[in-house]
Amino acid sequence: KSENLALTPPMGWNSWNTFGCDINEELIKGIADAMVERGLRDAGYEYLVLDDGWMAMERDENGRLYGDTIKFPNGMKALGDYIHSKGLKFGIYNCAGFKTCAGYPGSRGYEYIDAQTYADWGVDFLKYDWCNTEKLNAEGAYLTMRDALYATGRPIVFSICEWGDSNPWKWGKEIGHLWRVSGDIINCWNCEVGHGSWSSWGIWKIINMRTDIRKYAGPGHWNDLDMMEVGNDLTDAENRSHFAMWSILASPLIMGNDIRSATPKTIETLSNEGVVAVNQDSLGIQGFRFSDEYGIETWIKPLINGDWAIVFVNMNDKEVKLYFDWLKHDIGDDVSQKFAKLKYNTYQIQDLFNNKDLGDTSTPLNARIGQHDVLMIRLNKQ
Ligand code: DGJ
Repeated sequence: KSENLALTPPMGWNSWNTFGCDINEELIKGIADAMVERGLRDAGYEYLVLDDGWMAMERDENGRLYGDTIKFPNGMKALGDYIHSKGLKFGIYNCAGFKTCAGYPGSRGYEYIDAQTYADWGVDFLKYDWCNTEKLNAEGAYLTMRDALYATGRPIVFSICEWGDSNPWKWGKEIGHLWRVSGDIINCWNCEVGHGSWSSWGIWKIINMRTDIRKYAGPGHWNDLDMMEVGNDLTDAENRSHFAMWSILASPLIMGNDIRSATPKTIETLSNEGVVAVNQDSLGIQGFRFSDEYGIETWIKPLINGDWAIVFVNMNDKEVKLYFDWLKHDIGDDVSQKFAKLKYNTYQIQDLFNNKDLGDTSTPLNARIGQHDVLMIRLNKQ
């Protein structure tokens, strides 16, 4: 695979959660403009990814894919040029099977032709799905596409979208830069919505699905918790919690809302500098659940220079008081072998969402956290 890509979790936007297959040139250009005008590009969001539904239903006479000519009248290369002219990167979608999930032509048997087509259009990111794959072996299918992308000579981030069924974290590191760990996300706090043979998963269902694979994440290879539902009819508190969790779990931060019409509060959440910095920390260590008491979940992530990020989430349906006595907890992480010696070192506490100094760890932390809201702090080593 292309080296030196996605050394921190990829950040960007993807069309699927809000628009499904109903995408077109005007919409995508509007999203690119909004990414710039609303400060999201400068906050770190880089990849603008078109999901399923961009293609014409057939290949051309040379077997090459092309964009739906009604939806994308100027073609995909011109769209990529526009995205690049805004200082963003161009992402596109296809599928390892013979058809995409929505029934457009898949890449099976056309991997090298398709990879070259994307490179010719200036594509920087490929999301590669897993519908209509019959008895294909997942590792083999993703390996073929990886080699095809590599053969083009263009650096392209390769996003494995296999839903976690064949343990992509065990083989994905050498093949792609990120891999999905679950089926599709849906915009609820903790629901499961069944569709017959498959389900969509709420925020906490996804978080709790695989808490045992954090050791597989690191620079260039990430556990992907799916595109975010921040801004999609969750409460502001739930938006903050969702974003804090994707951040502390070192998941790719791919927005899935309509950022043109998003509320100022949603944009503020998505572009919070301190929260983004936790996600983008150069050590690339995925956080973990430290404790779960009285409906307050505490999650921790070791950061560069001996700093730590901590998320306290209130799972209760009412406001709660948080009391956390630093001297009664040893903070440590067996996977990364990082430990905070709170008896000997005092850390300064920074409240990230409220951008406030909360004193230091020599005295217990007292706070109130609203329903489904979060307190996210950074412990700065003095
Ligand atoms: C299934 C994937 O998991 C989704 O993220 C999306 O890409 C759809 N397929 C598109 O059909």
